[in-house]
Amino acid sequence: MLLRMHTVKAIYPGTFDPLTNGHLDLIARGAKIVDHLVVAILRNSEKSPLFTVQERVEMITEATREVGNVSVATFDGLLVDFCREQGAKAVLRGIRAISDYEYEFQMAMMNRKLAPELETLFMMPAEKYTYVSSRLIKGVFELGGDVSTLVPPLVVERLKAKVAGRR
Ligand code: PNS
Repeated sequence: MLLRMHTVKAIYPGTFDPLTNGHLDLIARGAKIVDHLVVAILRNSEKSPLFTVQERVEMITEATREVGNVSVATFDGLLVDFCREQGAKAVLRGIRAISDYEYEFQMAMMNRKLAPELETLFMMPAEKYTYVSSRLIKGVFELGGDVSTLVPPLVVERLKAKVAGRR
């Protein structure tokens, strides 16, 4: 009998400025259903980030150390080009609420137009993280709010160092 071995590699792209427990929850869920998951940080974001790309790579690498089939990469330019370079069959994205849907739908359809062979997989994070976003984390932390149950401890440390360094 001829056995064909299929391995599915997926890319989980984003800004991750910074990584949240919602992202980590999605990474864990994604890593369970694909053979290899690459968390890919967009290098040239229009948003002005709090953390450098290198800092974000370090945080994600550290926080996903225990998950065997996850790696961290950075990319520039079109996501579909990066997926092709990587030999990935799918893009993983999280949907927290209906409000995420429109933007995600547009991106998924544009990516399909550009690369019809690539599928976008949507997964929902745990309900307890549905309101968590990197933007809110930064805003709340900068105003002295406690975000320690919403991001990994190593991110809390980095946030403290970053904000202290600015004062
Ligand atoms: O976490 P974010 O900021 O919502 O992630 C957005 C991201 C990085 C997935 C998106 O901006 C992206 O893929 N950028 C790369 C450029 C690209 O391929 N644009 C066309 C997609 S419609």
